[in-house]
Amino acid sequence: MNSLIPLLLFLTIFLFFFLFFPPSSSPTTSTVAATYSTSTFPNQISLKLVQKELIQKVCSKTSNRTFCVETLESDPRTPSAYNLPSLARIAIELSIANVSDTQALIASKLRGDTTDPDVKHTLKWCVTWYTEVIALLRSAVTALEVDIKSAHQNIYTAGEYMGYCESNMDYGGVLDSWILTGNQFSDYLLDIAFFSTIEGL
Ligand SMILES: *[C@@H]1O[C@H](CO)[C@@H](O)[C@H](O)[C@H]1NC(C)=O
Ligand SMILES: *[C@@H]1O[C@H](CO)[C@@H](O)[C@H](O)[C@H]1NC(C)=O
Repeated sequence: MNSLIPLLLFLTIFLFFFLFFPPSSSPTTSTVAATYSTSTFPNQISLKLVQKELIQKVCSKTSNRTFCVETLESDPRTPSAYNLPSLARIAIELSIANVSDTQALIASKLRGDTTDPDVKHTLKWCVTWYTEVIALLRSAVTALEVDIKSAHQNIYTAGEYMGYCESNMDYGGVLDSWILTGNQFSDYLLDIAFFSTIEGL
């Protein structure tokens, strides 16, 4: 008799769960909603009001607002950015990636078939300045949480150095549309980084 008690208990519990939580093959409302929203907006990142407000605050100051909004809204890290420093970090890291890519392509051009000494000279300068730009941006990332003023200052100087490359190209008559486009995007990105590190924005 005693050995039957555990079995009865087990059966009672099993029945209880079966009656109150029957196995069901019909999808719940939440899975229907999820399927619907992912198929309707395949690449949409869901942003909360806090991120949208931060983006508006920063982007309204930049020279290319559309680029700024599109860039920040589509970055997969943005949904977890809850304050300006974390949004600034995204902008700075995007700048570092963009500047590094542009620098790598300038370097490959330099190793390539360019023979014009003026062009070579200009490209060499740009590679040098870009190395400084990347170093400054890396320090800015490090400074973000502790000293936003110095992060901002680093980004400002990085922008100046980017400008040296551009004015060198103008001066040397190097009209490499590819580099100019690369610089243009890096400028836009630096602009975002610059305005997102203004103290008390
Ligand atoms: C802003 O950036 C976009 C690229 O996202 C570009 O197509 C557009 O021409 C830029 N606008 C200005 C005013 O620079
Ligand atoms: C820089 O960023 C722009 C905009 O996101 C992109 O179109 C371009 O390909 C990037 N350039 C490099 C060299 O990464």
